[in-house]
Amino acid sequence: MAAITKNQKLLDWVEEVRALCKPDSVYWTNGSQEEYQTMINTMVDAGLGTQLNQEKRPGCYLFRSHPSDVARAEKRTFIACKNKEDAGPTNNWINPDELKKTMTALYDGCMKGRTMYVIPFSMGPIGSHIAKIGVEITDSPYVVFNMKIMTRIGTAVLDALGENGEFVRCLHSVGKPLAEGQKDTEWPCIPNVDEKYISHFPEERMIWSIGSGYGGNALLGKKCFALRIAGVQARDEGWLAEHMLILKLTNPEGKVYYIAGAFPSACGKTNLAMLQPSFPGWKAETIGDDIAWMKFGDDGRLYAINPEAGFFGVIPGTSEKSNPNAMKQIQTNTIFTNAGLTDDGDLWWENSGMPAPAHLIDWKGNDWTPDSKEPAAHANARFTVPAAQCPVIAPEWEDPAGVPISAILVGGRRKTTIPLVNESTNWNHGVFLGSIMGSEITTADITDKVGQVRRDPFAMLPFMGYHMGDYLKHWIKMGTKTDASKLPKIYFVNWFRKNEKDEFIWPGYGENSRVLKWIVERLSGDGKAVETPIGNLPTADAIDIEGLDGITATDMETLLEIDKDAWKAEIASIKENYKSYGDKLPQELANELEQLEKRLG
Ligand code: GTP
Ligand code: SPV
Ligand code: MN
Repeated sequence: MAAITKNQKLLDWVEEVRALCKPDSVYWTNGSQEEYQTMINTMVDAGLGTQLNQEKRPGCYLFRSHPSDVARAEKRTFIACKNKEDAGPTNNWINPDELKKTMTALYDGCMKGRTMYVIPFSMGPIGSHIAKIGVEITDSPYVVFNMKIMTRIGTAVLDALGENGEFVRCLHSVGKPLAEGQKDTEWPCIPNVDEKYISHFPEERMIWSIGSGYGGNALLGKKCFALRIAGVQARDEGWLAEHMLILKLTNPEGKVYYIAGAFPSACGKTNLAMLQPSFPGWKAETIGDDIAWMKFGDDGRLYAINPEAGFFGVIPGTSEKSNPNAMKQIQTNTIFTNAGLTDDGDLWWENSGMPAPAHLIDWKGNDWTPDSKEPAAHANARFTVPAAQCPVIAPEWEDPAGVPISAILVGGRRKTTIPLVNESTNWNHGVFLGSIMGSEITTADITDKVGQVRRDPFAMLPFMGYHMGDYLKHWIKMGTKTDASKLPKIYFVNWFRKNEKDEFIWPGYGENSRVLKWIVERLSGDGKAVETPIGNLPTADAIDIEGLDGITATDMETLLEIDKDAWKAEIASIKENYKSYGDKLPQELANELEQLEKRLG
């Protein structure tokens, strides 16, 4: 039989991994729809997944993970560059030689009794000059059909790779070999979190993961490649690989604006990417919901592509009210993980806006009733769905040239201090705002610190492939590469301010379009703002709240207040954080902090 590819480097690597992991067989995925369906059917037939009610949700399936394997594991995520200093203070570092030795022992025979799948994939439209190719080797069929949705996979990628093309090596195993005749469990993985590894070798553009089958730990094109490894490539090659949604906004006059937004995990990227504006005449469309790769075009503007092909979205909280577009999108051809299964073969989850059924099977596979103390769906339950199915996907979402970005939003979950929206006064000030972003920790990572504020520059803290100080320097440097007037304007937003009763003051979701409207008005020179010590804030009447129930002028005052004492405490905490970057903290940011302190008086 003719070799499946002439790329000798790839053939050699696959053979090397086969010899180490010792699978029963090797299968090269071709990326076809038939292959996708066959792999799902095989799992369903073996009782490892559930076909949902095909009248209610055609082409939809439910999978349940092991209770220990429900989210990314940040403390088990490693950056193994040669010098510890290059990984910086925010990453877990292990010497690459040592880590390879440890993991090689773990990989030895780890695929016994299983099939080893080879998945050639492209991040970005196949053949685009911005796109990059990876090859994931995995022993998880669940990973294969999720990668089929999240990226572009198969034979077409091998063709684009050609004989000498470069690719990022992504090796993944669930870490559960099967003895002869042993039956597989529903979600094989290494249950002890401390034995999982999600490792990056940035200098070799290589990823090694073992022990987890969930999300970013296992779908290696996403955070591992498109952010951590691509971030290093972007630094070296002069572009940006960012944890950002990309949104297209058209005003009533037909003028189009493309806006990118960096929010930490579970802080509203997917929701904002597909929002329904609350104003007549305004139109919002989606380009991407999680990751943006941005490069300067010949015209000096910053162009963004969405390197992914699907959305891996948080299920709980998705409802007709919060995200009607997602509700439509996930009605067909969707993989659900860790939602509740109703008795009629449909799904239910918390804050879905759907009445709770009298009985269901919860994400752990147990009987559940509305009286149960445990949630029906895990807080980090996810849907995997093709982007093309999004009812408001922009026609140009796969344009290999990307879309020109006019504004960048940054922001996290903050109960206090941070106003609804704050406009930076120039690029460096904007990078400063991105660098001081913080968020109250959610459940997107396995952690016991839910609720505490942590600094998360540009929402990249868990996704940095190198030193955070060098990353911020890279952002400052990007601002010198073009005319200042061509740079996107940076806005610091916060949808999550709370009142004394611990309720969100701002209604959020579709109503965030009111803030976007002000931003677009600012870009065109019409929006009204006041200069304040922290940046330009909307004037009291600049944000249109007409028709918004339950928001008073006093609420708007709270949402836009600058509490000097709170800001002084904030500055103390930023200083602490900045100290951790040592002499890698860009001088420009130290200056911004000093000036902010002076302006606050
Ligand atoms: P990742 O996929 O983990 O990166 O998360 P994400 O940034 O895409 O967040 P997503 O849009 O999935 O929202 C996460 C949670 O925040 C969900 O429970 C949403 O209901 C909630 N959320 C999103 N937008 C808003 C908002 O504007 N206001 C409020 N109060 N909650 C929101
Ligand atoms: C996130 O946690 O930011 C996600 C989910 O989007 S994962 O792909 O698992 O990282
Ligand atoms: Mn998301």
